[in-house]
Amino acid sequence: MTVLEGIQKSAEFLVKKNVESSRLQAELLLAHLLKMPRMKLYLNFERALTPAETDGFRELVRRRGQREPLQHILGSTSFCGFEIAVHRHVLIPRPETELLAEAGWNFLSTLNPQPSTALDFGTGSGCLAIALALKSPGAHVFAVDVSPDALTLAQQNAAHHQLTERVQFSQGDGFAALPPEIKFDLIVSNPPYIPSAEIETLEPEVRDYDPRGALDGGVDGLDFYRRLAVEAGAFLKPKGKLMLEFGEGQAATLREIFEKQKWVVEAVLPDYTRRERILIARR
Ligand SMILES: C[S@@+](CC[C@H](N)C(=O)[O-])C[C@H]1O[C@@H](n2cnc3c(N)ncnc32)[C@H](O)[C@@H]1O
Repeated sequence: MTVLEGIQKSAEFLVKKNVESSRLQAELLLAHLLKMPRMKLYLNFERALTPAETDGFRELVRRRGQREPLQHILGSTSFCGFEIAVHRHVLIPRPETELLAEAGWNFLSTLNPQPSTALDFGTGSGCLAIALALKSPGAHVFAVDVSPDALTLAQQNAAHHQLTERVQFSQGDGFAALPPEIKFDLIVSNPPYIPSAEIETLEPEVRDYDPRGALDGGVDGLDFYRRLAVEAGAFLKPKGKLMLEFGEGQAATLREIFEKQKWVVEAVLPDYTRRERILIARR
């Protein structure tokens, strides 16, 4: 079997398994297996795959056909251009969360040349904490998560980016994981926000492979926001900001929740599809 034949057959198989962008997915899996950039496959279409390569490719495509996320099979993803390792104990970082990271580092840059501190509440893979630290060289970033397995990976990701000195991890239940007197210039969070009953309706890649504790936001999906609205203020400096990702359709209720707790909602930003997804608030 040649490279091209392998890609074509695999793409056909993945279509039958309802995998989106099946040809692209097949190419990415084969490029990963052959340890070459995807574009280089195009120069190698007529190359014959060895029996070992054919077997290896078949196994990767079989896993993807079972709707295991591509990022889990590859072992990593890109977040704000930085490589982040992922596995089944962390949420796979999403493109819309890059917008939250960008809003965060833009705000931190306005505080320059003062050193700044930021908190990533529910850090998962560590993607937000890592992107903030890499883009804000003067910032010290704290990252908390309730999941010890997530934190272990987040720490490895930070070490991979030489951030051991500037990103500090604590395991525990939200703010209880932090020293009580600490105050931040910025708190970012992409908390779990899927209403519990909706989880079963999600695509298999999310439903079966993202950790439930990273998805489940309680009955209406808003448990973590109610908690942040009450608790986050005590951990912010006077001019500090709270920046939160939330789910589609949650903006209006979130505004109410935060305004009721005496927050000023400064902005609600849209994602790439123009849906409101990020709330920026201050005390
Ligand atoms: C939606 S994921 C976000 C992960 C990562 N920040 C991202 O944007 O890709 C939410 C994270 O919050 C963590 N989490 C859930 N409950 C928590 C709690 N009570 N305290 C701290 N972290 C919690 C989960 O373990 C999960 O890693």
